Amino acid sequence: MRAPGPSILSARFFKEKRPEGDDLVVRGRFIVFEGIDGSGVTTQAHRLKEYVGKKLGLPVHLTKEPTDGPVGGLIRTILAKRVGVPTRDGRLESVDPRCLALLFAADRIDHLEVDILPKLQNGVTIICDRYYLSSFAYQSLSVDLKWIREINSKCIHPDLTIMLRVPPLVAEKRRLQDRWHVELYEETPKLEHVSANYLSIIKELQREGHRVEIIDGNRPPNEVHKDVVRLVRSLFTTTGNKKARARGSPQLGIDFASEGGGSADA
Ligand code: TMP
Repeated sequence: MRAPGPSILSARFFKEKRPEGDDLVVRGRFIVFEGIDGSGVTTQAHRLKEYVGKKLGLPVHLTKEPTDGPVGGLIRTILAKRVGVPTRDGRLESVDPRCLALLFAADRIDHLEVDILPKLQNGVTIICDRYYLSSFAYQSLSVDLKWIREINSKCIHPDLTIMLRVPPLVAEKRRLQDRWHVELYEETPKLEHVSANYLSIIKELQREGHRVEIIDGNRPPNEVHKDVVRLVRSLFTTTGNKKARARGSPQLGIDFASEGGGSADA
């Protein structure tokens, strides 16, 4: 099945700015990393940024969700359990999961408008540490998935989403090495459910034509990075371009024989 076209938000954006037919400005690629807490998403996102910038010589921007913007800041305080709803007996309960789902969606729209879309349109490749698939996998622990998809329906679809699959107990060990406090979702039983959610939702997205790939993240970072590079290169080759064009993205050609050099940041 053909991949779905861009959402209303992106269609409006790209129609206004895209040049007629030519390769004057080429939209950058939009790549997302996903996985449970402790799966190595942040490490791999940084390594890919280096690769795209230095080896491919393309303008690249690394970003993440929740963002550092106004809504993202609020989400972070909720995740850190520093704000909540007071109960009658004086305890603090976390905010209603539906509110949290809306906050993640609001943060995402802000992220797209302020940061992602303008850069993509200027030819910058975006690497995003978490995006709407995180909302689907985490918030659906307690909120209806159909509704979560609905409130994210104005968000553009990534060209490629890579999910790093790591057993929840391995992820727990990794988290214990570098975390000082436990955030809202950082409990292994919860993350076991999130992990199962990821797998079933990814199947659903793949059936709908979205490009979502699963990589075994339970290996040394170098090996994982090699698989990531293999997937990402296909976005910039002629065959990958044909598929991208079928999805409505303009062409971007890289001569991999002369790969190397170039600036790392946009
Ligand atoms: P991180 O910054 O360490 O990746 O933590 C972000 C946390 O927020 C992580 O537990 C996943 C969670 N999250 C959601 O529940 N929904 C979302 O839409 C996003 C982007 C993150």
